[in-house]
Amino acid sequence: MHRRLIAPGALAAASLLLAIPASAAEASPGAPGIGDPYYPYYGNGGYDVSHYDLRLTYRPSTDELSGTATISARTTQSLNRFNLDFLLDVSEVRVNGNAARFATSGEHELEITPKSPLAKDTPVTVVVRYSGVPSTKSAYGFTTWHRTPDGAIAADEPEAAWWWFPSNDHPSDKATYDVSVAVPDGTQALSNGTLQSTSSQRGWTRYNWRQNKPQATYLTTLALGRFDVTTATSDGGVPVLNAYSKDLGDNDGAARASVERTGEIVDWLSGYLGPYPFSSAGGYVPNTTTGYALETQTRVYYSPKQFAGGSNTSVVVHELAHQWYGDDVSIAGWKDIWLNEGFARYAQWLWSEHEGEGTAQELADYTYASHPADDPFWTVAPGDPGPDNQFAAAVYDRGALAVQALRNAVGDETFFAILKGWPKSHAYGNASVGDFRAYAEGVAGRSLKALFDTWLYDTVRPAQPAVASARG
Ligand code: ARG
Ligand code: ZN
Repeated sequence: MHRRLIAPGALAAASLLLAIPASAAEASPGAPGIGDPYYPYYGNGGYDVSHYDLRLTYRPSTDELSGTATISARTTQSLNRFNLDFLLDVSEVRVNGNAARFATSGEHELEITPKSPLAKDTPVTVVVRYSGVPSTKSAYGFTTWHRTPDGAIAADEPEAAWWWFPSNDHPSDKATYDVSVAVPDGTQALSNGTLQSTSSQRGWTRYNWRQNKPQATYLTTLALGRFDVTTATSDGGVPVLNAYSKDLGDNDGAARASVERTGEIVDWLSGYLGPYPFSSAGGYVPNTTTGYALETQTRVYYSPKQFAGGSNTSVVVHELAHQWYGDDVSIAGWKDIWLNEGFARYAQWLWSEHEGEGTAQELADYTYASHPADDPFWTVAPGDPGPDNQFAAAVYDRGALAVQALRNAVGDETFFAILKGWPKSHAYGNASVGDFRAYAEGVAGRSLKALFDTWLYDTVRPAQPAVASARG
């Protein structure tokens, strides 16, 4: 409703306006982005999602994905239009049961106009019926939907969701999930959380996965293919489900030798980070050619390349540490990425110490010495690296140096209290680097501004390595 259209003397129009409830008259479109300065169009404004129900069908031979997403949300403003982030072809949208108009815009925006405006602070149910071939869709010139010889996977950061489900695609809007996917018999569908049930008919098998704890969109994964599945329960009581592509070739042995230690590593990490926050743990190794791993919640994605050089428990430790630092406590915005990567790297240093392969302090000294003062490494500020450097080495390695510097500044007792207390203090929520500093200062009982400025924000090499002699 544009008020400027009501010209003076246009009595008929004015009385029509008066007949509309105030909330509707005030309704405006939701923003096409949630307000992240790194990625202006990621996420959307005007609503908050609580649950995604995805009921899909996938054909590996053609890469066709089709089905229905039912999104439960709550409005945070009155809306006459709102967006979802999505790339596949939409055939129907319903809002609170009524057919809604829809259009696409920008790189990945689905604009939805409900039949009548939505009042602020009310529940809304959005049904999106869709189909498409994800590998043929791109935004910003690329796709992160990866086909494999026997299927496909969705696992990437920060972009993955819009190739397979419509969402409010930003880590600050976490939700629970039911992901149900039918695939031809012999193919499996893997996702986050627990496998609630499977059913077979007409040559198709349907896998029903549930994530009952809040989960960020980029941590929601889908793997389609032919897998060997292993299940176990850790000594600490955490159910573990891992899956290995049947075609890992030479990497099969090293992949299993690493990922099968998930339960042991989850229990070991619990000693530092507190109780494991989810009802299931595990990972999957599809036969992709991509080179990274990703901490997809409860079901980590590993590339076979991680195991090409032999067993690699360090990457397992990294991705499992993210279950606390990243998945349980998620970043408020993408600039807070140090809260994920600095701590996941630091967990690898603690594991190295545990394995007798060098202490955290030794690895910190080595890392500092490996980067001379004129190395551009030091020009990246881990506390606000910018979108182009979000996954730069400095975010990980200087990020872990910052953690070691914190440890040396506050002493081991306080440091390990912070490390374990932080996930509990923001369980299943979101937090920023500033929130972490405030929390650490609260536990330490003193300002840590100078330390954070030096290690997270200065764009030169700190004068002192992160040594214990710096302890104040
Ligand atoms: N968070 C991931 C990790 O465990 C990094 C993923 C980076 N994304 C990518 N496409 N390489 O470190
Ligand atoms: Zn990481």
